[in-house]
Amino acid sequence: METSRTQVVIIGAGPAGLLLGQFLLKQGIDHVVLELRSADYVLGRVRAGVLEEPTVRALRDAGVSERMERESLTMRGFDLMWNDKHVHIDFGLVNKVATVYGQTKVTRDLMEARLAGGGVTHYEVNNAQPHDFDTANPWVSYEKDGRQFRVDCDFIAGCDGHHGITRQSVPSEQIRTFSYAFPFGWLAILADVPPISEEVAWINHTDGFLMCSLRSKTRSRYYFQVPEGEDIKNWNAGRFWAEYKRRLPPSLAGKLVTGPALEMSLTPLRSSVSTPMRFGRMFLAGDAAHIVPPTGAKGLNMAIADARRLFEGLKQFYAGGRDATLLDSYSDDSLGRVWKAVRFSWWMTNLSHKLSDNPFNREMQIAELEYISQSVAAQTTIAENFCGLD
Ligand code: FAD
Ligand code: DHB
Repeated sequence: METSRTQVVIIGAGPAGLLLGQFLLKQGIDHVVLELRSADYVLGRVRAGVLEEPTVRALRDAGVSERMERESLTMRGFDLMWNDKHVHIDFGLVNKVATVYGQTKVTRDLMEARLAGGGVTHYEVNNAQPHDFDTANPWVSYEKDGRQFRVDCDFIAGCDGHHGITRQSVPSEQIRTFSYAFPFGWLAILADVPPISEEVAWINHTDGFLMCSLRSKTRSRYYFQVPEGEDIKNWNAGRFWAEYKRRLPPSLAGKLVTGPALEMSLTPLRSSVSTPMRFGRMFLAGDAAHIVPPTGAKGLNMAIADARRLFEGLKQFYAGGRDATLLDSYSDDSLGRVWKAVRFSWWMTNLSHKLSDNPFNREMQIAELEYISQSVAAQTTIAENFCGLD
């Protein structure tokens, strides 16, 4: 086994791991990133696209915002639609905006900065495994190109997503996971066609939710609700467009431009929160600790917020005095924020999706949507939560 030593081992090179790595790189804190997949695979994963203001600030502070400043779009609100009605949720109510900039671009910017800054990332590692994180001497083992490695460290950052190894390595009596799965998912398409609207539209349709979103003035991201168990193999772009157009309100259907799919995917709608987020010298961040349904565009923003908060703790620790105050409060501080985002995503999902065949549920949704359209207070609450609670 080949051995080495560093200060922090980051497992996972998604947004959480890469942002934490970028902050550590800038701060001169020695670390290494271990990633299961290849860099191209990670870059090819199309996911989120809406950034909250604290996320934008974090990317600026990490020194990776140059392309984002140039290419992103500003989102000033969105439309909630049902039957032939709609209400505009204006982010001006909370003096904020959101930023449209794809997760793939965030990942690319972070990877490029890491390469330029000389950060060490090992891609395509197998069997990464955290050890002895309940002691002062944690270490991580992994395999690469048929060779075995051991890295001793001060801390392990579990940034390895929902299916990662770090959370699964915690003894079951030390962790509690709260989960809820909606009985449906989102079918998504990414296509180089002009978006129906420059503002995101959320549509509650009797046959299920649909959303019009975008990545740029020429690239659209559209979703609609499908029952659980749906198989992506049964869908092609033609069938997607036909069903999407059928559910669109006539005012939007006429504007729909279709085209070949750059990507299609199926996302289950689930919430899951694991507590605590710290186990001795191992910290979980991002999807490794919690996932939300995409409704509300919170997942990426939560991952970035965790990574930033974890960095603040590590920075304080290494500043000289080995002060662990911020590391000690990492879990409680993060979970306070996480639960509120989980609640908002869950609530927005309940408001906008076909929940069951019981028409009562839809009447409740319509009553709530009518109320929202008449109440600036309700619209303000939505804007405040969508833009991110400070
Ligand atoms: P991830 O991005 O999952 O990164 C974890 C990394 O760890 C991955 O690169 C993975 O390969 C690596 N890894 C896993 N296991 C190991 C291991 N054993 N060893 C080493 N490395 C490992 N959020 C939104 O806000 N809006 C959306 O529209 C949206 N759509 C989504 C669609 C899909 C299909 C998915 C899966 C998620 C979506 N999300 C969305 C959520 C958002 O993309 C995630 O919240 C975000 O990627 C979390 O970042 P992360 O760094 O915590 O985890
Ligand atoms: C996206 C946009 C949203 O407003 C949302 O709630 C979920 C996803 C998107 O563009 O991917």
